[in-house]
Amino acid sequence: MTAKKKPKVYITRKLPDAVETRMRELFEAELNIDDTPRSRDELLAAVKTADVLVPTVTDRIDESLIDEAGPQLKLIASFSNGFDHIDIEAAARKGITVTNTANVLTEDTADMTLALILAVNRRLAEGSRILTDKPGEWDGWSPTWMLGRRIWGKRIGIVGMGRIGTAVARRAKAFGLSIHYHNRKRVSPQTEEELEATYWDSLDQMLARVDIVSVNCPSTPATFHLLSARRLALMQPTSIIVNTARGDIIDEAAMIQLLRDHKIAGAGLDVYQNEPAVNPKLVKLAKEGRVVLLPHMGSATIEGRIDMGDKVIINIRTFFDGHRPPNRVLP
Ligand code: DGY
Repeated sequence: MTAKKKPKVYITRKLPDAVETRMRELFEAELNIDDTPRSRDELLAAVKTADVLVPTVTDRIDESLIDEAGPQLKLIASFSNGFDHIDIEAAARKGITVTNTANVLTEDTADMTLALILAVNRRLAEGSRILTDKPGEWDGWSPTWMLGRRIWGKRIGIVGMGRIGTAVARRAKAFGLSIHYHNRKRVSPQTEEELEATYWDSLDQMLARVDIVSVNCPSTPATFHLLSARRLALMQPTSIIVNTARGDIIDEAAMIQLLRDHKIAGAGLDVYQNEPAVNPKLVKLAKEGRVVLLPHMGSATIEGRIDMGDKVIINIRTFFDGHRPPNRVLP
């Protein structure tokens, strides 16, 4: 880094110790040691003084906040893959560069997607609760008890075949699922061949034909409620839906109704429309066993968080060295 003065970097949440140590060495870093979520007023003060803002998915970096930024704020280096919490158009209008932590969350999020598919179809949470919530009540194996749905030989329909969707497809193939996908663009012929994947230009047609729907596209204005009430109703009553992307891609109220009416067999969710609030109707369905709910932990691995911190640091250093940061996101 050639800049003489260390950039003033405001970090909104507690990060892994190793990342914070490095941030302190390299920058004039303002950390959040006790991880108390920053208030709107604190963020407003920060954008008036910091050179770099490092938010996470829990911060709303909207137009009104960006409009208040002082001329010194040059970079928003988000500690996240998704950037739907940042108004990137407002940032661009103000000449503020935005970066994310693309690539390093791919494998962990794909793992969690498979974990949810397995958990819903093989009733993992329900089985575990039988032993933990009512100890001693299990009276042994039975041929007809706790039967789930087989995964091998079924069809998965991946909505969004970017990095994470492709990583899900690789794992799903190893589990004996046939791969179907819908994406704005077709993936390369080599990738299609490797995955033996079928491309569906029509999302509607794919939804009607698969056993597992996996949501892996980003949240953008174009994907808001992409899985609308009408589209969800096309799914088969034996099929399940898994979402490790963002809650607002699915019309949550419509999905809940279809689950309650047994028009969809199950759901595995890591993300919610009004996160961190979780619709009590979903909680009820989870207690009944057809739904598995996780608290947005798709990318939550020790290694992943350190990799994300490294990415943020690289983006900041590259930017202040006068180069284009590797994970710049454009409106
Ligand atoms: C991200 O970074 O976008 C993830 O959703 C956080 O796990």
